[in-house]
Amino acid sequence: MPSPATTLLQHLPHLNAEELRRLLTEQLTRQKLGLYWERDAIAHDRALNADLVLPRLVPEYSHTPDGCTAHANLIIEGDNFDSLRLLRATHAGKVRVIYIDPPYNTGNKDWVYNDQFVGANDRWRHSQWLEFLYQRLCLARDLLTSDGVILVSINDENRARLELLMDEVFPGRRVGSFVWRSRTGGNDAKGAFFSDNHEHVLVYANSGFRFTGDEKSYSIYKHEEGGRVFYLSDLTKAHDYKERPNTYYPICDPHTGIWYPCNPGRVWAYASRERVTDANKLRGDTMEAMIEQGQVWFPPDQRVEQFDTLQALHAAIDAQDIPFSGTTPLLTRDTPELAQWVGRRIGYGRPRLKKFKDGLKNENAPISSWLTPRSEADTIGDAINMPIVGATDEGSRVLKEVMGDKAFPYPKPLSLIKNLLAQATRPGDTVLDFFAGSGTTGQAVLELNAEDGGQRRFILCSSTEATAKEPGKNLCRDVCAERLRRVIAGYGGKPGHSLAQGGEFAYLQLDKIDGADLLLDAQPHHAATLLSMRNMAVAPVEQAQEAIQTIAISADWLLVLCQDSAPATLDALRALHLAHPAARLLVATPRPQALALWLQEQGIPGQTQALHAVLAQGQGRRR
Ligand SMILES: C[S@@+](CC[C@H](N)C(=O)[O-])C[C@H]1O[C@@H](n2cnc3c(N)ncnc32)[C@H](O)[C@@H]1O
Repeated sequence: MPSPATTLLQHLPHLNAEELRRLLTEQLTRQKLGLYWERDAIAHDRALNADLVLPRLVPEYSHTPDGCTAHANLIIEGDNFDSLRLLRATHAGKVRVIYIDPPYNTGNKDWVYNDQFVGANDRWRHSQWLEFLYQRLCLARDLLTSDGVILVSINDENRARLELLMDEVFPGRRVGSFVWRSRTGGNDAKGAFFSDNHEHVLVYANSGFRFTGDEKSYSIYKHEEGGRVFYLSDLTKAHDYKERPNTYYPICDPHTGIWYPCNPGRVWAYASRERVTDANKLRGDTMEAMIEQGQVWFPPDQRVEQFDTLQALHAAIDAQDIPFSGTTPLLTRDTPELAQWVGRRIGYGRPRLKKFKDGLKNENAPISSWLTPRSEADTIGDAINMPIVGATDEGSRVLKEVMGDKAFPYPKPLSLIKNLLAQATRPGDTVLDFFAGSGTTGQAVLELNAEDGGQRRFILCSSTEATAKEPGKNLCRDVCAERLRRVIAGYGGKPGHSLAQGGEFAYLQLDKIDGADLLLDAQPHHAATLLSMRNMAVAPVEQAQEAIQTIAISADWLLVLCQDSAPATLDALRALHLAHPAARLLVATPRPQALALWLQEQGIPGQTQALHAVLAQGQGRRR
């Protein structure tokens, strides 16, 4: 089919002015499929500016146990737009899993746009929320590895809007969503229609991503046969015998000769070869084929009866002493062809379908639609791979156990984030939460490492939540970092977390520097921290002040930060070369030309890079 533009071009020579105006208007005002929000009507977020963001390590808020030589875990204080800009300059393509629990746009003034809390009556509330998230999600997208995934919590009310926004930012990357039962009891029903008890976790991933799966969920595979394990599943489907007469028939176990009547309210899931007259209409296997292949399980220990006359069968039917499925009698006086049951050995148990573990196509994948509430875990029956998680009250309870008082409203349950990360991460992954709040994601990462010996690392971005009324408030330092410190030390009788399990973190604040003043205002420690984060994905344990810093050492190169070309600095550089004669020196310096010349004169293999370019790399404007 020709596109509208092609059609327009074809007709162009024959159009008069009025037709041309109409067609052009139609073309120019046509909106594409997808989400629209009033980007031009709302004032642009002032947080988005041309500053450069540089990290400042705060050793006194960091957690640096003995033996810690570099920090793999990061807690970054500040507006996450700035944190993400920094991370895009240091961690592009390095984060495998992002989990976020953003403000839900409830109208409860729980987030800030353009330095103002956005309330329920704000005219542009939804557009500002979308723009706020859009800017951050676009930055976050660049951080994901090629097999990375982002999981986003959202309430039911805003799910549709957010999902369309995610489609915009991550086109073609939608994996699906989980439903989380956030409450076990009811709450005030909205307009008498709904008790609002669930939230969603949207999942978008790059192409290489796979859920890890959950080995524990194989506990339902309780049966074994010839080395193959299976669980028992339903052999019927939800149609009655009038709707599906072809799948309403008795079946016989060929090994025992015992017959089983069909449930008139739920017929067999497979057609019988004998009933299907037109082979072309047969879809999938027949019951006979399933039995021949050993896919049907017949109960080994059960009651078996034989009625030698129709009167005896009638008597058993009248006495309700015949096989049942639940409360449904499987034989009644109205059962079609009832007389065929006379003289047959009739089994009172029910045949079932064997679901073999080795037959699973994607055996580890969690079921997309449901995270099982802990209160219902015992009644799940045949379900597989459904993470068992707590409700909202668990989040507050765990935080209270750690912090002593309720330090933060509505943290997510630890079990929810832990289960999501258990499914989504591998043991060496970096996990980012840029709406970290009280730091539940950090605790989940540490606990998962302790459970499986993994080396996952966390990056948590949290705001201070300081306001004009509470200028001294610092949620990031006093709740998020403090919580992690207590979890690492061990709380409530629980063991702490060793350095090997990730029991450390760097606390970073952000300095915003005008690009023009970069070389004047940027300090050696800014550059050392930024370069360590970018090249080694770690932060140093101390603020560097010396003129020469070795950032990274490998067999064939050395990354060095050199603040000046004073004689002492050049001596230090020469000594470094003598200690590592086989390595090329990569020198970041404000004096790239002078130092390049000096390296050449000295016969030291290496190259220089202008420090301002190194600091600004990856921090370009996006608008
Ligand atoms: C729903 S809470 C997240 C709670 C978290 N999942 C937990 O378990 O503690 C959202 C958090 O995002 C924070 N937030 C809102 N806007 C932010 C911004 N621009 N930068 C960083 N954090 C922000 C809020 O202060 C709040 O702590």
